[in-house]
Amino acid sequence: MIPGMPGDSQVYLNGEFTRVDEAKISVLDRGFIFGDGIYEVVPVYHGKPFRMTEHMNRLDRSLQALRIPSPKSREQWLELVNELIRRSATPSCVVYLQVTRGVYKREHAFPTTEITPTVFGMTTEFTPPTAEQRERGIRVISIPDERWLHCEIKSVSLLGNVLARQQAAEAGVDEVIQFRDGFMTEGSSSNFWVVSAGKLLAPPKDNLILEGIRYGFMAELAEETGVPFEARRITQDEVASADEILVTSATKEVLPVLQLNGKAVGNGRPGPVYAKLRAAYDARIAAL
Ligand code: PDD
Repeated sequence: MIPGMPGDSQVYLNGEFTRVDEAKISVLDRGFIFGDGIYEVVPVYHGKPFRMTEHMNRLDRSLQALRIPSPKSREQWLELVNELIRRSATPSCVVYLQVTRGVYKREHAFPTTEITPTVFGMTTEFTPPTAEQRERGIRVISIPDERWLHCEIKSVSLLGNVLARQQAAEAGVDEVIQFRDGFMTEGSSSNFWVVSAGKLLAPPKDNLILEGIRYGFMAELAEETGVPFEARRITQDEVASADEILVTSATKEVLPVLQLNGKAVGNGRPGPVYAKLRAAYDARIAAL
């Protein structure tokens, strides 16, 4: 039994599908020992993966960053994702993919002989934010960003993110907004956006944030809906005085942030830029 997981969910591990409570990896897997691996989280609506090409491109970039040889071709990844969706209990789900460098004696440097990467895949249930959650928005606190300097890699080494999210949990809020040297970076598992004087702002795509798949998507939606967009460094004061703050991720889609450090953001209600982008987001999902 795995707490919180239905025991009969089917997962993929190194070429085979098994029950989640029967899938086993080696204690010397470098993902387990060092967090030496990468992952992807792909939202699926009515059986169709959303922004799949972009997720696959990011998976390739992460593997390249860690110099892990890609264990599958693009076609094989797509095949695997479709098979996971087919076996999923619900047609709307989230596909989780993970690749680690593989199994070897414990030694920090890369193995000197060729090893086979470990490939894991599963689906989990996905309920997109309801009308009520969209109205209620999310509450956040600001904290210093204490993570490493390669946040652009979607690595499974997530201790900094885990500790950040735990601070949110202990503060009784939904997420954190992290700041490095006085500038906004991102959440523990999401990207943040600020609306100031009608303009949508996001931090630059550099090594200090993970470029969410919704980063490029929101930029596209802003263009489509005539919302001016700029990627630049955003100060803590700009965040505190923002007209609107938005959050995006595969599972949050786009939601308004309605409380920051216990204070209302804007007038405490979802704002007009959120409404525009949200409608455009919904239209793209409906057109899938
Ligand atoms: N997290 N930044 C970080 C640190 C993230 O972990 C995520 C996603 C994002 C948003 O990326 P995307 O739009 O591709 O979901 C930004 C996923 C959902 C997770 O770890 O579960």
